[in-house]
Amino acid sequence: MPEQRPRVLSGVQPTGSLHLGNWLGAIRNWVDLQDSHDTFFCVVDLHAITVPHDPARLSEDTLSTAALYLACGIDPQRSTVFVQSQVSAHSELCWLLNCVTPLNWLERMIQFKEKAVKQGADVSAGLLDYPVLMAADILLYDADRVPVGEDQKQHLELARDIAQQRINARYAPKGPDGEPTAILKVPEPLILKEGARVMSLTDGRSKMSKSDPNEGSRIALLDPPELITKKIKRAKTDPEMGLEFGNPDRPEADNLLGLYALLAGRSREQAASECAAMGWGSFKPLLAEATVEALRPLQQRYAELRADRSGMETVLREGRDRADAVASRTLERVRSALGFLPATRDHGQQLLDL
Ligand code: AMP
Ligand code: TRP
Repeated sequence: MPEQRPRVLSGVQPTGSLHLGNWLGAIRNWVDLQDSHDTFFCVVDLHAITVPHDPARLSEDTLSTAALYLACGIDPQRSTVFVQSQVSAHSELCWLLNCVTPLNWLERMIQFKEKAVKQGADVSAGLLDYPVLMAADILLYDADRVPVGEDQKQHLELARDIAQQRINARYAPKGPDGEPTAILKVPEPLILKEGARVMSLTDGRSKMSKSDPNEGSRIALLDPPELITKKIKRAKTDPEMGLEFGNPDRPEADNLLGLYALLAGRSREQAASECAAMGWGSFKPLLAEATVEALRPLQQRYAELRADRSGMETVLREGRDRADAVASRTLERVRSALGFLPATRDHGQQLLDL
């Protein structure tokens, strides 16, 4: 029998272009997990419409995000790469989970509170419901681990609570030994330290983010070399000489030195000793060079993938079929535990035959 590897599921929204934080904090770690885990990676396009979006761009952004996954090293032979909205079980399980999730659990979510302030009077019910859809994404695949950046930890806790307290504890049928059998697997977060928080280039105390209105605050994975160099040249610095880690008064030095270590393939100790006596004027070109070189192969691969539209569509069609096979079984388990009539024709036939 083939060995059962622990399963991993993660996803990124197809909004705006992915940046160094998404790569170093999330996708880069997915690549290594492919060796040891059964990996599922989706483009979470249903999440992208929880804030106002442009319909003319959604499908292209979805394809670009999937192509970036592959360009970063996700291998569709080893991982299931798919688009969330193409597997209808995500929306269906979300509804079932909605009906057992207390409203005040959602109102407590930090990301909702932050995003709601930005939306003013126009906050959608979908924005509040965002973490329940995310719980559905994870629980449909019986994921053991979910690699995300630190900012998503609260959402993952919510997914665990829904699975454990609201589905398993309430609806699990008893097994032959009289013990309740779990309906949904309770997932663990997987938060890797290095790169877990890449900070903004214009403020070392706030996170690099897609939603920062200042483009100069982030380096997009597809930025051309000149733009990367320009953004790094303009990045915020301080009047001190020498780069160092861990000085609370120098968040920019900590962040940029950390980026240098990751992008130049140095250990943190090596990077710290190499740059200990360096002024910003010598360090910045070094960081720019390391960034351009680290992104070059990724950008080349991306261009090839985007030029082959039918190739991308094939990857996503196969991914969807594999994902759908797993997700529809889990959905059926939950439907059945909640007392619904079977949804599939085969099951329905069996029911009529009773
Ligand atoms: P988002 O850009 O919010 O859709 O996030 C997609 C993934 O990238 C999530 O797993 C985040 O935790 C991760 N991520 C986003 N921004 C950063 C950042 N500045 N540093 C590290 N990880 C990040
Ligand atoms: N909310 C996640 C983010 O912004 C994206 C996401 C949606 C996700 N569904 C998921 C991440 C399931 C991991 C697993 O980063």
